[in-house]
Amino acid sequence: MSNQSIPFLDLVTPHRELENELVEAFREAVRGAAFIGGPQVEAFEREFAAFCGSKYCVGVANGTDAVRFALMASGVGRGDSVVTVSHTFIATVEAISQCGAETEFVDIDPSTYCMSPAALGEYLGSCAQDPKSGRPIGKRTGKPVKAIVPVHLYGQVADMDAILAIAAKYDLLVVEDACQAHGAEYRSADGTWRRAGTFGKAAAFSFYPGKNLGACGEGGAVTTDDEDVARTIRMLREHGQAAKYYHDLEGYNGRLDAVQAALLRIKLRHLDTWNAQRREAALHYNELLAAVPTIVTPFEPDHSKAVYHLYVISCSDRDAVAAHLKTEGIATGLHYPLPVHLQKCYREWGYTEGSFPVTERAAAAILSLPMFPGLADDQQRRVASAIESLMSVSARS
Ligand SMILES: Cc1ncc(COP(=O)(O)O)c(C=O)c1O
Repeated sequence: MSNQSIPFLDLVTPHRELENELVEAFREAVRGAAFIGGPQVEAFEREFAAFCGSKYCVGVANGTDAVRFALMASGVGRGDSVVTVSHTFIATVEAISQCGAETEFVDIDPSTYCMSPAALGEYLGSCAQDPKSGRPIGKRTGKPVKAIVPVHLYGQVADMDAILAIAAKYDLLVVEDACQAHGAEYRSADGTWRRAGTFGKAAAFSFYPGKNLGACGEGGAVTTDDEDVARTIRMLREHGQAAKYYHDLEGYNGRLDAVQAALLRIKLRHLDTWNAQRREAALHYNELLAAVPTIVTPFEPDHSKAVYHLYVISCSDRDAVAAHLKTEGIATGLHYPLPVHLQKCYREWGYTEGSFPVTERAAAAILSLPMFPGLADDQQRRVASAIESLMSVSARS
């Protein structure tokens, strides 16, 4: 076994493998001076919509814009509350604030780390009702709830049947934060498998370089089956213009670069293979770690085919495991160490420790192990045996 260090994520190898194609696409863009909009963006949008199984895709500047534009185009804004989870990257919540709405949190499911339908149902059922809209009034914000944003965290689709049923009961919109879940699948009760990005009114994707489908820079997209939502997002990303220099809305500069679209098209052709490699590596980790006491490996319900953007274990002595792996030259990550409701920037919202106990317990116990397509068998064995050796030492002492 090699003693070389094991990175958390290897972005270099796939780029080296695709270097000729990527450089050629860049050269073409430079030669044609085609940088904003145009055929590469349109082709990527068609291809990514087809990949997800949605009618429309609109490329935008990044995943945060994608969440914000998806909410705005679905009619969410000032005076509305949006329910999401605190166990997410802060961008989910930033986007809610940036569209003018306010955030209400609910807790997660302890086994999947995604929004708990039970917590969602309980929360909405215990809110007062807005006499005008009939919708639940957010307990923190005092504003009627308009939308739910489930986050398909770590590459696993949240329990969408249950969440959509609750949304229908309270007449709420659903906007998926699918920024970590390109290609993740979920089986509905009718037996059909569908991909992340096809369940809500709209869904947001990020193409940040480390994502399962990553740009060579920033990028994002919204998928939707709703023509009006797609049209509005096309306007929002381009200063609200309906036709050149005629601005029906006040918008943003939120476009996907043509160069990034061209590069993403090349990578998209490999995404199914890369996702399959991630799933294979996850299964292999599960086997290697099955016998290690006190380590909880990721849970995938029968209705889910996760794409393992991250492979996250949980253990009570997480910091010791991370430190030990570091001494063995193995990099790990924390996604995320401090829940959003306890971040300093939201201190005025008045949440304290104990506000969302499942989220807080998860944040203290999770550890993301190296995960990327091409992660080698011997690298995985080294990770597992390093964890195992530490655990057997602590069990003896
Ligand atoms: C769950 C989630 N939501 C939103 C985002 C925001 O995406 P971006 O970094 O492209 O703005 C990310 C990515 O970092 C994310 O992981």
